[in-house]
Amino acid sequence: MQAKTWHLGDSHQSLVLASFGDGLPEAVYWGPPLPEHEDLPSLAAASATDVTGGMVDRNAPISLCPEASQTFPGQVGLTGRDAEGRTLLPRFRFESETVLEHGLILVYTDTDLELCLVLDLSLTPGTSLFRMQTRLESAREITVDWLAAPVFQVPAHIGDMIEFSGRWCAEFQTRRLPFAPGARTRDNRTGRSDHAHFPGLIACSGRTCNTSGEAYAFHYGWSGGHRMVAEQLADGRRQVQFGHASASMKRDRSFSTAPLYATYSGAGFNGAAVRFQRHLRDHIVVGARQPRPVHYNCWEAVYFDHDLEELKAIATRAAGLGAERFVLDDGWFGLRDDDTSSLGDWGIDKRKYPDGLTPLIDHVKALGLEFGIWFEPEMINEDSDLFRSRPDWVLGPLDQVRGRQQLVLDMAREDVRAYLYDCISATLAQNDIGYIKWDHNRVLPVVDAAQTEGVYALIDRLRADFPHVEIESCASGGGRIDFGILERTQRVWLSDSNDALERQRIQHEAALFLPASVTGSHVGPRVSHTSGRTLDIRLRAWTAAQRHLGFEMDPRELSDSEIATLKEVTGWWKANRDWMMRADILRLDASDPAVVAEQQLAEDGARFVVFAALLRASDPILQQPLRLTGLDAEARYRISLINRQDAPGLSRGAPLLKEKELDVSGQYLMSHGLILPWRFPETIWVIEGHRQ
Ligand code: DGJ
Repeated sequence: MQAKTWHLGDSHQSLVLASFGDGLPEAVYWGPPLPEHEDLPSLAAASATDVTGGMVDRNAPISLCPEASQTFPGQVGLTGRDAEGRTLLPRFRFESETVLEHGLILVYTDTDLELCLVLDLSLTPGTSLFRMQTRLESAREITVDWLAAPVFQVPAHIGDMIEFSGRWCAEFQTRRLPFAPGARTRDNRTGRSDHAHFPGLIACSGRTCNTSGEAYAFHYGWSGGHRMVAEQLADGRRQVQFGHASASMKRDRSFSTAPLYATYSGAGFNGAAVRFQRHLRDHIVVGARQPRPVHYNCWEAVYFDHDLEELKAIATRAAGLGAERFVLDDGWFGLRDDDTSSLGDWGIDKRKYPDGLTPLIDHVKALGLEFGIWFEPEMINEDSDLFRSRPDWVLGPLDQVRGRQQLVLDMAREDVRAYLYDCISATLAQNDIGYIKWDHNRVLPVVDAAQTEGVYALIDRLRADFPHVEIESCASGGGRIDFGILERTQRVWLSDSNDALERQRIQHEAALFLPASVTGSHVGPRVSHTSGRTLDIRLRAWTAAQRHLGFEMDPRELSDSEIATLKEVTGWWKANRDWMMRADILRLDASDPAVVAEQQLAEDGARFVVFAALLRASDPILQQPLRLTGLDAEARYRISLINRQDAPGLSRGAPLLKEKELDVSGQYLMSHGLILPWRFPETIWVIEGHRQ
């Protein structure tokens, strides 16, 4: 059968689509780049599969939208009903194609059902991510229960998947599962991308590790909760589908998925991770302040207990440590002395700030810091003037279970958005504010795409009118992290855990998608408020210095030696941030499972820094050599252990790096690895490398 074919590819990967008999296209190849002379019609012809006893006479393709009408034996790409409740069984036929410089738009129609399916497919130039989106138009009102973004097949030798779960203060937990007959489905009904449901998946082989092997990585760029299906069909083929959480679909004439980003890597998880990191940093995030300012956030210092003179003293100390931005957290508005009241009443609390915020802002600005402020716009407390006047603005029934004593505003309403715009814009217009921490501390009572679209519209309007104001996405920490929110925000608060040991793991896993420049990481109090652990300032400071550095403790608790360490690490971070905030974060495969290690490699490859944290006592008594990655095998590098003075007295031997610098080839570093001094658990080595 004659096939139409298309190729989307670059030097990293090729995706070949074929459409047979005007049917929906299917991927007949996705993997390493094909040679230019590859004959696409031959690939299409070669994709034909056999049938035998017990099978239907033709295997339904895993097309970009698998169709029930083709007797597809698994999860289909579209399920819906017409006005009378009858199941829709579309048979889409080719209508048109538009070939763009880096992509194509394919239009398919079902004339009987008056449906039009638009597949918007592109490969991002330079960053090599497929960006795939499906739109469905209907001449009549229909109910859609499921619409998948363009569906991908993963090959049979890719037997595992790594998926993401987590919880408050323990975000980005990864889990490796084997593909097995049947579907693995994740349906996030929280209404936000959520701690427990980061919208990503990595399909890989059993041998794939950070630095080698094959990986197929996916991210759904949507903040309202996603549904994922990773399915092994009874015939052994595997498909991956992403779309909006099932409950967010409804009756309409037009439906669209968010963009699904996907990439193939032949260079381990890192090969995919750096594409997500670079694309997010350079093409998704807009308007991030450069250089990234050292952040101070007062939440864990004062909570709701705001006192102007105390806050000024804290700001002065933070500035002395090297902070360049001061963020006034929750507690400045309404009558908010705890978390039971005032959300929705965005006027300054005159009891705490009789002369408004100006005296604090003036003080902060005089210290040379930018001023930032906290909002939680989508939320409302019953104990608020807003609730007393507009209880009808609440999303969902009033007798719903509360979350942190709060309810949610219906962001689909124009009047709700207008009210919030007026409150926030007045605060921004009347005060010299350069930054908003935008919080979201509970899950939604109902899943509804209109809620997310409403939030996007509000942020877009504020960004258009206050383009100099940077926004941080926070939702009790990492509850809203995805490419959708990051198209309109510049930083994420990765977790409410400032415990450096927890943070090591969380930020390491998040680096599978997030670059350092958007990932907030703060030096917390000596005794962590969320884990009760006491951790040394060196581990706390260097851990935060691996990402967008900030402080969050009460700086008045710091001892002289803690101050000295913090100033030193902050000085180091400032001296290195220009290249480090643009570096690739490469996760290292440490042979010691107690070690979390990563290498931040400069864009030009001329320098790098390695952070190797020891989370607990190692099993073997010797430190195992730490192998680096991504270097030029032929080049020589000068290596220095920049915090070698931290080696404890129990390190009695003479590993070279404890005494001096080492000059070796990239090949040695990548194949043999570095021998580091013995150390206590809960410590970190920091190693710099410069190409000679
Ligand atoms: C949750 C955030 O993650 C914290 O950092 C802080 O802003 C509180 N909310 C304030 O209520």
